[in-house]
Amino acid sequence: MKKILDLITSEIRHAFASCQYDEAYAKVVLSNRPDLCEYQCNGAMAAAKVYKKKPVEIATAVVEKLSGSTMFSEVNAVMPGFINLRLDEQFVADYMNEMLKEDKLGLEEPGHGETIIVDYGGANVAKPLHVGHLRSAVIGECIRRLGNYLGYHMVGDVHLGDWGLQMGLIIEELRDRKPELVYFDESYAGEYPSEPPFTIGELEEIYPAASAKSKEDEAFRERAQSATFRLQNGYAPFTAIWKHIMAVSLADLKKNYGNLDVHFDLWKGESDAQPYIPGLIKDLEDRGIAHESQGALVVDIARPEDSKELPPCIIRKSDGAALYATSDLGTILEREKDFAPVKYIYITDKRQELHFIQVFRVAKLAGYVKEETPMVHIGFGTMNGKDGKPFKTRDGGVMRLEHLIADIDDAVFARIMENRTVSEEEAGRTAKIVGLAALKYGDLSNQAAKDYVFDLDRFTSFEGNTGPYILYTIVRIKSILAKYETMEKKPAGESKVLPAASGAEKALMLELARFNEVLENAFQETAPHKICQYIYGLSDAFNSFYHDTRILSQEDSLQQAGWIRLITLVKEVLTACIKVLGFEAPERM
Ligand code: ARG
Repeated sequence: MKKILDLITSEIRHAFASCQYDEAYAKVVLSNRPDLCEYQCNGAMAAAKVYKKKPVEIATAVVEKLSGSTMFSEVNAVMPGFINLRLDEQFVADYMNEMLKEDKLGLEEPGHGETIIVDYGGANVAKPLHVGHLRSAVIGECIRRLGNYLGYHMVGDVHLGDWGLQMGLIIEELRDRKPELVYFDESYAGEYPSEPPFTIGELEEIYPAASAKSKEDEAFRERAQSATFRLQNGYAPFTAIWKHIMAVSLADLKKNYGNLDVHFDLWKGESDAQPYIPGLIKDLEDRGIAHESQGALVVDIARPEDSKELPPCIIRKSDGAALYATSDLGTILEREKDFAPVKYIYITDKRQELHFIQVFRVAKLAGYVKEETPMVHIGFGTMNGKDGKPFKTRDGGVMRLEHLIADIDDAVFARIMENRTVSEEEAGRTAKIVGLAALKYGDLSNQAAKDYVFDLDRFTSFEGNTGPYILYTIVRIKSILAKYETMEKKPAGESKVLPAASGAEKALMLELARFNEVLENAFQETAPHKICQYIYGLSDAFNSFYHDTRILSQEDSLQQAGWIRLITLVKEVLTACIKVLGFEAPERM
């Protein structure tokens, strides 16, 4: 289905053309004065300069041409030359009925299976997931779902941090705790055990202990660095430990991401990039793209048009070690080989902005990624506590994700139990569904780049711009629909949405009609908050309509059936949107 804005624009273009004015002036926008009109075209003002006429003269001529149009109920030329438009009630009702019939509610897929890589999650193996990883997971999952919905082939990669110093720290801490393990016996020549030498519980305790120790104990830190170096150069006993760390940690990560309803197509990590790195470095050197600087190998990425001076991208440190950027470039080589994506989207903390500018520029300079392939970094802000500082636990520690989720579920559970219309067991299940919505919506409704305050009371409130409010609206509609199902007086045949009978009903329809445009635009701008903004407005529009419309006690059965169709559409649009955002609605709450 064409977008409603496009339908209107094409009508106005015809009118401009038949008055001999350039169609390009027929740009239509949503009105910012809904009391005066629904849509407006301001093109007569710009056209006036070119045709050396008064804007109102042009506007009036165009309006005259539109007098027979069935699309509008009102078309006015207003001083100094605005064209104000109101849509015809029948035209809008037809659009609603079309939406109900179409797949994907009338959204025409802009994608045709093109592959797009989304790199999100970015958890570091053996370190517990904390709230810092939450935003990447929540935003990335939404982008992946949105792209798939729009017809692209989204490939989500968790890109684990699985190759860094934490591995050496764990290996050396393990040596101190269990020196008798065969991995530490240099003369051992047998097979390594298939049982891991630790549980997830132990592993979670080993890393923080090792990390703390390395800050005080220089000898320990050096051992960890050397263990990391040996691991990275293929030392078999450490590779065996690394595999155990990976297996134990991955099982736990999968469980945690699963609880967030966050999914990945690829469970790759920095370690997968390693085979590409020697060739990458050689290639950059051979072609003179990289050069030596103070013992390190670097690529200059600064451009004359840069507003600030950008440092070169370091590919190899003076001690021979590869870096984060090297590993990201290796990963790009692998992704080009496996997928040749048409676009890359990375979602990390915005403090990594420079890193991605450097990596993207090197990838393009070296021709690893085509010049026209967009490489996008979405840098998000910090999740703060009510004190405006990065979110912490009550005793000042780093909040673990599973504890955060538990806190939200408890808060929602308490709210549901206040009303006490369901069993405790159902309340428990519902709390998990609503809690996830509260958490994800609380995050996604903010522009990603901004910091936001994690406010448990506000996020879990059933009123205002919150996830639970959206769910509550859906549940409310479900309950009206269920009641209607049990009623007897229903008209025969297929029922239709009828022309709006009130201002509130028309406003609701106009909101519904924007669905396809909003989703496309949110994807183009990689801006999930636009979907939240939209469903908040739509929920409000539904609730005002519902407030002054007696649907279930309506005598006229055709009118009643029409409203039932209309609110069915509201439910479907809201449901499609929250699915893209990454959560779902319960049956009751
Ligand atoms: N593991 C990294 C971190 O915790 C995030 C990885 C993001 N993705 C990437 N391709 N660099 O900071």
